[in-house]
Amino acid sequence: MHLPLQYAQQRIIHSDILDIDASHDATIGLIVTSPPCIFDGFSYDDYLEWSKKWLKRCYYLAAPRGRLCLNIPIDVNLDGYRCLGSDLTGMAQAAGWQYRSTIIWQEDNISKRTAWGSFASASTPNIITPSQVIVVFFKDEWNKGKGISDISPVEFKKWSLGIWQFNGEHPSRVDHPSAFPLELPRRCIRLFSYVDDVIFDPFLGSGTTLIACQALGRPGKGCEIDLQHVKNAMHRLQKEWQVVQWNWQKEVAKWAEIDQKDKPSDLMTAYLERKQK
Ligand SMILES: C[S@@+](CC[C@H](N)C(=O)[O-])C[C@H]1O[C@@H](n2cnc3c(N)ncnc32)[C@H](O)[C@@H]1O
Repeated sequence: MHLPLQYAQQRIIHSDILDIDASHDATIGLIVTSPPCIFDGFSYDDYLEWSKKWLKRCYYLAAPRGRLCLNIPIDVNLDGYRCLGSDLTGMAQAAGWQYRSTIIWQEDNISKRTAWGSFASASTPNIITPSQVIVVFFKDEWNKGKGISDISPVEFKKWSLGIWQFNGEHPSRVDHPSAFPLELPRRCIRLFSYVDDVIFDPFLGSGTTLIACQALGRPGKGCEIDLQHVKNAMHRLQKEWQVVQWNWQKEVAKWAEIDQKDKPSDLMTAYLERKQK
């Protein structure tokens, strides 16, 4: 079923990503997403085959020089111990995407662990890595050519270092079991897209990517298979984005002030000139 839902510049499509017709819509500038990592009834190999299909669909939806930020756990223990980060990177490449880099996201609020395996013994220790990755890909060419960016010099310096630290999202706050925090799409969108790029999330969940789009003034599209999540995403979008935008503006203003104290860089000069226009 395709049920388009529009809020301001944001569009939610209630559909399976594999039912989205990609034959005439290569307009997406940036895809930011975290796919489902639960393989109910799937073998791991089936899951990887399915992943290749949606990654290919997204590849066709992407504009020339379009980009993909893929947020996934490094390891999973499903159908055996698997290096999901590496396996999905391979699937994305098999679907046509070209690899650029990997950002490590260290979640600051990982809950206390108890599953030690064999505690203080080498027999069967469990290693838990409280990090996920955001793997960055592109279509055809990495250089996007000319366009307008809205990232501040301080943000650029901070975020172009590929180790990011911020809290994960609480399921109860957003009514979704596996949402990523707003900080994740915010950084990806500002760092990797121009202001008029269309952003897409094929697994929209609670709508986080579209809230970031609305607060950053980007047109966005999201696809979600579960009607309850679609309704929740629409509700969140209407409720949250203005508050988020206001907080971010305050933060950027604070950073710009800090940066002014240093010798203004060329990037800062360009940024201030753009703000005055
Ligand atoms: C990991 S969650 C995404 C959470 C999202 N990033 C957020 O912040 O809320 C994956 C989502 O993909 C949806 N989904 C699963 N299979 C799908 C499919 N074939 N097409 C579209 N959405 C699907 C699930 O219902 C789930 O909400």
